[in-house]
Amino acid sequence: MQRVSRRTLLKGSLAMAAAFATHGCATIQSYKDLIGFRPVPLGAGRSKMPVISPDYEFHTLIPWGLPIAPDGPRFNYPPTAADQAVQVGIGHDGMTYFPISEDGLRGLLAINHEFGRNPHLLGVSAPTNLEQVRTSQHAHGVSVLEIEKSGTRWQRSGSRFNRRIHANTRVMFSGPVAGHALLENKVDNPFAGTLANCSNGRTPWGTYLTCEENFNLYFGATGSFEAGESQARYGLTERGAGYDWHRFDARFDLSNPDYRNEPNRFGWVVEIDPADPASLPVKRTALGRFKHEGAAVVTSGDGRIVTYMGDDQGFEFIYKFVSADPWQTMRDRGRSPLDEGILYVAHFAENGSGEWIPLTMSDPRLSARFADQAEILTYARIAGSIVGATPMDRPEWTSVAPDGWVYCTLTNNSRRQMPDAANPMAPNRNGHIIRWQDSDDHLGTSFQWNIFLIADDHYESDQGFGSPDGLWTDPDGRAFILTDGRQPQGIHNQLLIADTNTGKIARLLTGVPKCEITGVTTTPDRRTLFVNIQHPGYGDPRLTNFPAPTDGETVPRDCTLAIRRKDGGIVGS
Ligand code: FEO
Ligand code: CA
Ligand code: CA
Repeated sequence: MQRVSRRTLLKGSLAMAAAFATHGCATIQSYKDLIGFRPVPLGAGRSKMPVISPDYEFHTLIPWGLPIAPDGPRFNYPPTAADQAVQVGIGHDGMTYFPISEDGLRGLLAINHEFGRNPHLLGVSAPTNLEQVRTSQHAHGVSVLEIEKSGTRWQRSGSRFNRRIHANTRVMFSGPVAGHALLENKVDNPFAGTLANCSNGRTPWGTYLTCEENFNLYFGATGSFEAGESQARYGLTERGAGYDWHRFDARFDLSNPDYRNEPNRFGWVVEIDPADPASLPVKRTALGRFKHEGAAVVTSGDGRIVTYMGDDQGFEFIYKFVSADPWQTMRDRGRSPLDEGILYVAHFAENGSGEWIPLTMSDPRLSARFADQAEILTYARIAGSIVGATPMDRPEWTSVAPDGWVYCTLTNNSRRQMPDAANPMAPNRNGHIIRWQDSDDHLGTSFQWNIFLIADDHYESDQGFGSPDGLWTDPDGRAFILTDGRQPQGIHNQLLIADTNTGKIARLLTGVPKCEITGVTTTPDRRTLFVNIQHPGYGDPRLTNFPAPTDGETVPRDCTLAIRRKDGGIVGS
């Protein structure tokens, strides 16, 4: 294994001291430990049920198959297409809690349904008819569900806002690529839907952003198909990835000329207004097309919004979008702050500085290759390569800390052979977390960066972990780290809390066999934390039947956990 020098890490500790100062702690002695709970020991992390710190408790809610309307069809495995369209989807991933009551204890939970493999979702290795394909399509997308707190527990309430958005829902396109030939097919279909919904974001005007990641997996070819440069760069292959939607639904058949541009209609950030169940989801094309992981939105001092985004694939890039004008002004004039602005891609220099490179036609390198801005945005990955963006070790979630530092998980990259300063491990088996601070209050084109942590440095310790994926930094300076991948001593995926000032790490929760821990959102009072258990047991009831060990339902089901400190304190503390 190769590794670059400790140079950047030393820079990191200087930055840590600077970050420390910005939190207003005059001396080390007066520093209040942000993490006060007893961690889950490494040895406890192989249970069939989640294990949580003895200072915390959890209960489950919103399992896959829960009817969206309280009197809707009950879960019956495997679901029919009609039932699944009105039940909670599978593959729970990124989510956001939107309070709707004054005390914040009643709200809407918007949950992404990223993926569900056929054996888990359908009980067969591949669909044999269109009905099964429709079931699978209906299990993807997003659920919005109203929930409320009663005593110390959460439950569903009401149904006015409850809705399902899936792979066949009517959607709109907006921004520079809307109406462009690159999105048009011979067969016009407004029911493009959304799928591969990975991580998420929340806008300051109260809408939900759901981010389309591995959309390529749902495409394949029944006839001959040879991927051109742009298709290959987005991972589109004749064979597909085993979902086999293309065998029964022409829309996903890469060899069907009627749907030539269908893959261009995925890979976007999609805006959903949870408070308006009649509103259509809008694909915001100004934010670029790639395998979007999440969208961390922050408002700059002048009112413009800045959105940080990772593209989760080995050697892909980190992006940011800056709105053209202050968001309130734009919205007052009936414009969307997500439709007009500049998309930038990140270059990390070896010396700890960095540059945001705009992806626009005014760059002669891009105007030489692309016909217009819509084409740049549709093939943002190719544009990023042309301008010299830094290939990263699978950028996952981003989060903006209260001191302005932006954190990004780089989950792993076993294919890296040459380390560089920003990706110092080769191969990078267990991942790392990078952070940067932009000039000019998030608006500038230069930044300073350092490495917050390298998972290998902790991997063999009692608080070890690998493959950081989900990430949220709270207002006090804690980083919530959720994992998806190989863990030390074969323990299950986990949720850890890190103090971004001191680097201390403690394990709050471990999941169940074969699951991923993902999705992180809290109530405004931060007394409840919601996280998701994704693909428990990969659907194999012999490994786990979480979350329902006793009700006769044997298939394990993705679900949300509501977590609280037993003493009612701030979650993560
Ligand atoms: Fe959806 Fe990159 O995990
Ligand atoms: Ca992820
Ligand atoms: Ca993941």
